[in-house]
Amino acid sequence: MAKITASVYTSHVPAIGAALDLGKTAEPYWQPVFQGYEFSKQWIKDNPPDIVFLVYNDHATAFSLDMIPTFAIGCAASYAPADEGWGPRPVPVVQGHPELAAHIAQSVILQDFDLTIVNKMDVDHGLTVPLSLMFGQPPADDFRWPCPVIPFAVNVVQYPVPSGQRCFNLGKAIRRAINSFDKDLNVQIWGTGGMSHQLQGPRAGLINKAFDNAFLDRLISDPTGLAAMPHIDYVREAGSEGIELVMWLIARGAMDDVADDLETLATNSIATHAHSTRARHRFYHVPASNTAVGHLILENT
Ligand code: DHB
Ligand code: FE
Repeated sequence: MAKITASVYTSHVPAIGAALDLGKTAEPYWQPVFQGYEFSKQWIKDNPPDIVFLVYNDHATAFSLDMIPTFAIGCAASYAPADEGWGPRPVPVVQGHPELAAHIAQSVILQDFDLTIVNKMDVDHGLTVPLSLMFGQPPADDFRWPCPVIPFAVNVVQYPVPSGQRCFNLGKAIRRAINSFDKDLNVQIWGTGGMSHQLQGPRAGLINKAFDNAFLDRLISDPTGLAAMPHIDYVREAGSEGIELVMWLIARGAMDDVADDLETLATNSIATHAHSTRARHRFYHVPASNTAVGHLILENT
């Protein structure tokens, strides 16, 4: 059966992509940011996933105000990089996994979460910057990402956006879906975006280190309590774009140590696997562009 082995959480700041693509990673401003991912790049070489289920948000690249899916699952065979501002990054086309994606769509929709099925979509910095941070730049003579990716786009741009609680419960449903896929696959789930930042209005530039660190603490040790935090607390404490952090709760809800309130729906594999999760790596740095960078790796043991 397929199994979620680990979850990865990371900011997706677009300027990080530009710094990578323009060869600026060793500059004094950027060096401490990339230093925080050195452990992670080695860790993922040592623990290579077969597939990454990547929760992110689109920034008016694939979707616009014409159409705003709350949750959209990519079921395509591939996704072209695209972006606003700096333009498409020089990174490989993202290969999808239509078979597992279609299975997850079927399972999660039958668990009463209304997903939008996406069969053609470009992916922006929200998805490609986390891939670059974790995998580095693929070599020119083998220019591809190391594994397929299932993009899962969440609307955190235009209100009403989904609550942290709904995201957390969705993570549990995604775990059930992956655990019921009849192929031995090592799946990682990534939650991206955040941490505190506000890009607009009188509070533009807002960063809240105390909030961010408390969020990391609670994401590790009290995810169920953290899931109950209302939108207004994110916006007040972490800024208008800090709401991207609800996406981290999708990945967190999919981890083994989170109690499954619908255990009866679950497959045998859930009943038999160990219910424990441990933090392997934690990193926090301010600033990167207009945001705080946060990063966490949790493993199921
Ligand atoms: C910035 C950060 C983001 O997360 C984003 O999506 C766009 C811009 C910024 O720091 O400027
Ligand atoms: Fe963003």
